[in-house]
This record gives sequence, structure tokens and C-alpha cells, in this order.
Amino acid sequence: MTDLFSQLEENTQQQNKLNQAQQQIDQLTAQLIEYNYHYHNNNQSLVSDEEYDKLFRSLELLEKDYPQLRWNNSPTQMVGFSPKREFNQLAHQVPMLSLNNIFSDATASDEILRHRELLQFINRIQEGLNSENVEYIASPKYDGVAISLIYENGNLSYGITRGDGFTGEDVTANIKTIKNIPHRLNTAKPPQLFEVRGEVLIKTADFIKLNKSQQQLELKVYANSRNLAAGSIRQLDPKITATRPLHFFAYAISQNSDNTLCDTFYQQLQLLNELGFDTGSEFICKCNSFSELAKYYESMLDKRATMPFGIDGLVYKVNLLQLQQQLGFVMRAPRFAIAHKFPAEEKQSQIIDIQVQVGRTGALTPVAKITPVAVGGVIVTNATLHNQDEINRKDIRVNDFVMVRRAGDVIPEIVKVIHNKRPLNSQPFIMPSLCPVCASHVVKEEGETILRCSGGLVCAAQKKQTITHFASKLAMNIDGLGEKIVDQLVELELINNIADIYNLTVTELEPLERFGKKSASNLVAAINHSKNTTLNRLVYALGIRHVGEATAKELAKTFGNLDNLISASVTELVLIKDIGEVVAQAIVDFFAEAHNLEVIQRLLAVGVKYQQQSNQSKYHASISGKNFVVTGTLVNFSREQIKSTIEEFGGKVVTSVSAKTDYLLAGNEPGSKFDKAKQLEIKIINEDEFLTILGAENNATP
Ligand code: IVH
Repeated sequence: MTDLFSQLEENTQQQNKLNQAQQQIDQLTAQLIEYNYHYHNNNQSLVSDEEYDKLFRSLELLEKDYPQLRWNNSPTQMVGFSPKREFNQLAHQVPMLSLNNIFSDATASDEILRHRELLQFINRIQEGLNSENVEYIASPKYDGVAISLIYENGNLSYGITRGDGFTGEDVTANIKTIKNIPHRLNTAKPPQLFEVRGEVLIKTADFIKLNKSQQQLELKVYANSRNLAAGSIRQLDPKITATRPLHFFAYAISQNSDNTLCDTFYQQLQLLNELGFDTGSEFICKCNSFSELAKYYESMLDKRATMPFGIDGLVYKVNLLQLQQQLGFVMRAPRFAIAHKFPAEEKQSQIIDIQVQVGRTGALTPVAKITPVAVGGVIVTNATLHNQDEINRKDIRVNDFVMVRRAGDVIPEIVKVIHNKRPLNSQPFIMPSLCPVCASHVVKEEGETILRCSGGLVCAAQKKQTITHFASKLAMNIDGLGEKIVDQLVELELINNIADIYNLTVTELEPLERFGKKSASNLVAAINHSKNTTLNRLVYALGIRHVGEATAKELAKTFGNLDNLISASVTELVLIKDIGEVVAQAIVDFFAEAHNLEVIQRLLAVGVKYQQQSNQSKYHASISGKNFVVTGTLVNFSREQIKSTIEEFGGKVVTSVSAKTDYLLAGNEPGSKFDKAKQLEIKIINEDEFLTILGAENNATP
């Protein structure tokens, strides 16, 4: 008996474990598929690479323990990702067109001036119909995802996305999980073919509720209800779509084989209601004039913040279908309808804190942390404050009540402070003088509003970019140390700054992702090889702001060694060709940071050495003082290499052939420069001839 009980208990425990694993696998798979989809189709990373890799690894581990639960289309089993292939493409029998937009000018006090574009629309309609008595139907412009539903003999047979308007994706299985979409039309005599157009969205209250439960379950909190609705419709597994609180609003009938049913658009909406669709009827209004439409627009704009779902404007349509036909279409939009767009939504919130973020280039951006508020279907918790000038101009302080605006997909911003709600003891906000990440000094360039951290070599916020730049081709040229590897090495804390690169060992690298024994030793060899460099490469590699390759060359030529450059003053620096005050100051600021000097010391200590550079380039009888034009593809040199070789020997590389050109160096498949040089009887040499010239007199001195 006891055995039977413990056996049963064990079975239940195992079943629970399995259920839990299934839930986790489903959740992770669906999430990764969604991320992949956005990454490959919209070029949009919804999460950081780090977070993605973490989820991917968790899924791999779970799938290893429970191979029977793995999805056939699991991202772990795929090379690349093309979910588009997963949905069938379906042609729309009636194209899904778009609407033209009109806007209002909220600042104008007079109704006519405020809604000038609406008046123009009405005038166009009246002229087109040669009548002043036209009835319009105004409905909300739902901020969701357009969907077309096809009913055959009363049964829902297809749900299709908008796609490019002519062809969409067959998302029928997902659509069928939406609770308020009827699977069968509510009528005893259904038309043989019936097509409904509308929008799928998530109502604000449902979105907030869903996020609360996600939070409780310690799962991802969604930022944007529209994106979530779109992502849900495109889930490859309808079980996941079914868990999302999607809602469908029908706004039009695009096909009806029983065309005796309606004369007006309003009747169509009523019919849709009778057949079982939500048409948002409580928000629909019949209007007979410009003034009625303008008033309805203003009343809806007032209601917008308290509406149960997101709307981004109103849609007006001529009511009589016969008149709609008479007006017809221009290009891809109907003449009989228009979208009257609302301005970007604004909501009130309170600033909890002002934090200063440091970007990858060292730019400091103040960001307001605000009490979460839903603006335009998005839960906003941060708003950019741009810079100190902007903070001063709007007089923004911590604890202030503010109006927050979100327009399209841009970062939300603070529109204004509600001054009469300001707490008594508030203080103006002042940007820090030390970097909040690395405590280096913060500098401001002349004429610029942006503050920057000067700790380029040590600042964690700038680390990855600094290291990638240091290793790049034109800098230290460390083959194999690209962005992805740098990201990995920094995240694993194997390197913290550029000097740490030289301490990497094969044993450390070998077990890492993207590495094997061979690639690990290749990278270490490339790192060692880079120790012998030139001063201009080293100066360029340091990533000093404004110091590009050409400036680095000038600096190396002028100062000849690092010590001289480090102790140079702005006055000395501005004397150099192409160096102005901004660049000079950036150089001085860079070397004024003790952290940066320390890293340079470490570089030299691990054996980085550069050829001492003299003020003069090497003399070469056939190259010095000569003008070269290079054309076609060279075998032994890249364009940068040939340029620096010619320059090293005192020659100059110019881009176009003229009478002043001494040599045209022609590689394979030379372009029109070749013909021009021939015409001007310029000496044309090939790469071998160049190498012979170079070798014959290499390093000769005058
Ligand atoms: S009527 C010929 N009514 O807005 C197109 N569209 O910008 C007739 N939309 O493609 C569309 N709410 O996806 C119409 N009440 C509404 C709408 C609405 C949202 C979307 C729809 C359309 C887009 C046009």
C-alpha cells in the first residue's frame, strides 16, 4: 500500500516537473522566436545580445533534459531564421489600402484655423459630389494591427495580416484564438462570402493586468501593447496567442456576396454588430458638417486618456455607399475617407530621480526616472532630458510633476513641468563633473551642449567600443579581435581595458564560444604581432576623440614619440596642420586623465613598441615628392597600405589624374583614370613595377 502511495506521489511529482518544464520551454521558445523574427525582419533587437544568449542557453539546457518537449521549430535547431516561411502568403481579394492623414493645429484659437485641413477635406468632398449635404460617420482610429477576416457560408475560414496591402500572411489559427471574433456569423442566412476588416489590439486595462501577472511570475514585462498585439498575431504557436488578451474591432465590410443588405456605411456597422462583431459603436458618431466633425474630434481628444483602448485619431467616412463609389480612390487611398490624427499623447507623471547615463562614445545623457504611466499604449518609466541646457530651459527637478509625451517610436520626453505642483524644497539639477561610471573628469567641447567622459580607456561604458577600435585594422590591426569577440571577453571580464588584451592566453581563450585551439592560438599570435607598431597607429588606436587616422599621422610626425605628445599643450597642438582648438583640447583632456596614462604605461610595459618617427619621411629617389594616382585592384596592398607606403617615402596620393600626376599605379581592372592617364601621357606602372622601384631604392637616404 505504502509503496503504491509513494509510487503515485512520485508519478505526480514527475508529472508536475514535466508540466513546469513544458511551460518554461514553451515560454522561452516563443520568446526567442519573437526576438528572432524582429531581428531578421525589422532589424530590431528587442533585447540585449547578453539577455538573448542567456535565454537561448536556458532553452538549450531544458531541451537537453527534456528532448521530448522540444518544438520542431525551436530556435536552437535552426540556422538563421525565416519565420515568414512559416506562414502561408495569401493574396487579398480586395487590397488593404491606407488612408490619407490630416492634422490639426492645437495652438490656433479659431475653430476654422485650428482644423484647416479638415475644412479642406470637407470642401473637396462637397466639390466632388456637387452637394453641401453630405453625411459622415466618425469612428475611432484604433491603434492596433490591421486584420482581414474571411467568412465562407458564415464560417470563419481565413484571418490574414495586412502585409504589403496586396498579400498578407495566413494567421487563421491565431485569429481563431481571439475571444471576441465569432467563428460563425450570427445569422441564419449567412452570405456565401463575407470579408470583415478591422484592428486587433490589447485594451489598456488588460495590458496592465497582463504585465502585473508577468511581474508576479518574474517574467518579461511588456513595454508596448501594440508591439505585443502584433507579435501575438504572428506567433507560430496559437497556444501562445491564446494567452494574450487580444480584442478585435471591426471597422469595415470589404466583401459581401449578399450586396442587397446595406445602403450606408452606418448600416454596415450595424450589420457587423448584429453578426457578432464589436464595432466600438459607443464611440461612433454621425456628423453633418465641418463644425460637428470638429467638435467630435475635440471631445474625443479630451476622452482619449480615459478611453479603454489606444486610439491615434479618428476616421471620417462619407456615409452613403453610393457616394463613396462616386468619389472613388486616388492612388492607394480612398477619396471618401480620411484619418484625422491626434497629436502625440501626453500624460502626467512624477520624476522619481534623474540619472546620468554614459553612452558608448562617452556622451553623458540625463534621464528622468518617472512613476510608470501608460502613454500611447506604452508603459513609460524613463524620459530623456537631453542635456543640461534642456533641463535648465524647462527647469526640470527631481520630484517635479511633469507632462510626458511619446510620439511614434521615439524615446519619451518631458514636455513641461507642472509648476504649481512643485514640492517645496526642490533643488535645480546639475550634471555631475565626474563620470558616474568611472569617475573620470567630464568635459564639454566649445560650442557643444553634450558633456563627455574623458576616461575613454577606462570607462566601463565605453569599454567595448574602445577595445574594438584599438584592435581594428587601421589601428593595432589585431586580426580576429572583432566586435563579437570583444563583447564576449568584456562580459566574461577577461579584459577590462586595452592593456589587458596583451595578457590573454590560449588557455583562457580556448574554452570560449567561437574559439577552438587553433583560433585561440591565432588570436594570441595576432596580439603579439601587434606589439610592433608605428607611433601613428598607436596614437590612432588610443581612440582620442576627434583624432582620426590623418590627425594621428600628423601628431606622430610632429612629436616623434609618445612622451612629447603627452606633454604637448593646446598652443603647440594648434600649430599642427588641420588641428583646431577643439581637437587640441580633446588631446590635452585625454592625456590629463591619470587613468588613461596608467593604461598607456601598461601597454608599454607589456611590450608594445613603436618605430621612432622622425619629422621627415624616408627619402626615396623615385617616390619622394611625386604625385601618385592609384586605380584598380592591387594584389599586395590594400588602399590604406599603398597610401601609407607611398607617404612613408614622401610621395603623395591624389584621387584624380591631372597634368601634375607623376605616376598612375594601375591594378587589375583599372577604371577611367587609366584612359585619362594615357591621354595625358602620364607614366603608368603596374604593381610589380612599383615593387621593383620600391625595392631597388628602399631606405636609400639622400
Ligand atoms: S478604414 C481604405 N477605419 O488605419 C482603408 N481604418 O491608415 C480604410 N484603422 O489600414 C480603412 N482604425 O488599418 C479604418 N476606424 C478605422 C480604423 C482604420 C484603424 C487603420 C487601418 C487602415 C489604417 C489607415
